[in-house]
Amino acid sequence: MCGIVGFTGRQQAAPVLLAGLSKLEYRGYDSSGLAVRDGDSLAEVVKATGKLRNLAEKIDNGAALPGTCGIGHTRWATHGEPSQSNAHPHVSGNATGSASGPVESDVVGVHNGIIENYEELRAKLTGNGYTFYSSTDTEVVIKLVDYYYKKYKIGPIDAINRMMVRVRGSYALALMFKDYPGEIYAARKDSPMVIGVADGETFLASDVPAILKYTRDIYYIDNLQSVRILPGEAHFFDLNGDEVEMESTHITWDAAAAEKGGYEHFMIKEIHEQPDAVRDTLASVIKDNRVDLSVSGLTPDVLKDISEVHIAACGSAWHAGMVGKYVIEDLAELQVTAELASEFRYKKILLDKDALFIVISQSGETADTLAALRAAKERGIRTLAVVNVVGSTIAREADNVLYTLAGPEISVATTKAYSAQLVAMYTLALALADAKGKLEKNDYDYYIEELLALPEKISRALENKERIQWFASKHSNSRDMFYIGRGLDYAISLEGSLKMKEISYIHSEAYAAGELKHGTISLVEKGLLVIGLLTQEGLLEKTISNMEECRARGAYLMGVTSNGNYNVEDYVNFTIYVPKTDEHFAGSLAVIPLQLLGYYTSIARGLDVDKPRNLAKSVTVE
Ligand code: AGP
Repeated sequence: MCGIVGFTGRQQAAPVLLAGLSKLEYRGYDSSGLAVRDGDSLAEVVKATGKLRNLAEKIDNGAALPGTCGIGHTRWATHGEPSQSNAHPHVSGNATGSASGPVESDVVGVHNGIIENYEELRAKLTGNGYTFYSSTDTEVVIKLVDYYYKKYKIGPIDAINRMMVRVRGSYALALMFKDYPGEIYAARKDSPMVIGVADGETFLASDVPAILKYTRDIYYIDNLQSVRILPGEAHFFDLNGDEVEMESTHITWDAAAAEKGGYEHFMIKEIHEQPDAVRDTLASVIKDNRVDLSVSGLTPDVLKDISEVHIAACGSAWHAGMVGKYVIEDLAELQVTAELASEFRYKKILLDKDALFIVISQSGETADTLAALRAAKERGIRTLAVVNVVGSTIAREADNVLYTLAGPEISVATTKAYSAQLVAMYTLALALADAKGKLEKNDYDYYIEELLALPEKISRALENKERIQWFASKHSNSRDMFYIGRGLDYAISLEGSLKMKEISYIHSEAYAAGELKHGTISLVEKGLLVIGLLTQEGLLEKTISNMEECRARGAYLMGVTSNGNYNVEDYVNFTIYVPKTDEHFAGSLAVIPLQLLGYYTSIARGLDVDKPRNLAKSVTVE
């Protein structure tokens, strides 16, 4: 996610802004920038791609950018590649965007979030004489504020309120207006922003770590509120422009804990960010209750001619591909393979000329996955990258890109990016099925409704965490564990097993439940934990009988199933229920307790959850 900072007071602003941005680096970014005003002078904008030190060096750590009022930004690209012109701050005038220096514009600002209707707003503004120098949604929203500010000859708060009524999406905005030196204006909806007021100076930031050094008394701006910030003052307004009183919160966290939003580890923070990651990813491709992948180049005309689908990925991304295989095969009635990229790249490659070759990668830099992509491209096959990092190598080399909008994932063990990959697979399956005429309208509408309900159901699945923490402490000394399931339940068991292995260092295996009796059941002995995934109605009884075969040999059984399947608890020792959804999407809910089980087991064993031994977040070597 992007990071935002703002300051107005007696100190020089640039050093304060740089220090604040350095405390937000953990959020992940690819470029940064500042806008600072010295008294009544024009705001001066300076931007840099890459690390924050590139920006600091440009302005001699702030000394070359005088002024006591300013805003700053670290950008995590969602719309538009990482570049100087796409970096924030953005301006309402016709500047080139890449240039640094004084800006004539009436409005200059920074933004964190996703403006969903930015394309229609850009068209509206173009029709009113505006031109655009960047491909960002941020430039659009800043020009929209400028449009209302000039058209109705109103003040900043009223112009911001008009923008908030017109815009769809999420935003944390910090703006400076040429006519209001020394002041900063802010507004938010869904994206985080806090305000800190100290003696004669006021701070603004996306998150607490950036201002904890200056004050522990923080104001959390409410959704659809706007703020006028002066040195030592903050005035809050509702959507009607009426001033409202706000209570401050005293922060007791230390700086390190604050970077994790008060969570103990990045992994548990990211597990709890999954509803938002899924919601944002769905919102990027579902418009007016229809899946629209045209922004990825996958129009219905392209999709209807796809003859078969091949998926290649590694680790958890491959597990997401396995889910994609089952769902695309069932809904679009297409032949689908899901291969380990490290195997695919060395095998004899047999791909139909009209195949779609999909690579899935959170980082977009995994060497094996990149090699598989290049092998498919060499054979002239259409390639689609499902990636989480805008502008990553895999994103740049694929013919088409479908971005997951999970935001930066810090913990080595993936959770929110994996969940976002699942919904990317679901929406692709629906788009393929629809383009090939495989779905009746009411079935299509039903699936869309089920998808849009997932974020709230994932939030409810997280409510199991106390029971799972207790269960994890009872089994944290296990030597082995088995995760078993059939169909999509087998695909989810793969991810559950990896989560356990990679952060608790306990050996575990995921197994197709029906395969156990072909040899592996010989390993089952007293006390072995066998975790059964039981969300697929037609397969549930068979998996239960496989679990009973294990119990007969001394195993301890845990079942993960959907609400309503209450007979499961008659057969297993410990049952976790997750909200019911269409079976194709049940994995998005069943995986939540498995992520939590891995996390709490690792905690119980006193291990480094976020940085497990031997592992890297992105495996950029063979
Ligand atoms: C999963 O928790 C691991 N971090 C690992 O398996 C990961 O999914 C795999 O290395 C693929 O990474 P990518 O998605 O960045 O390509």
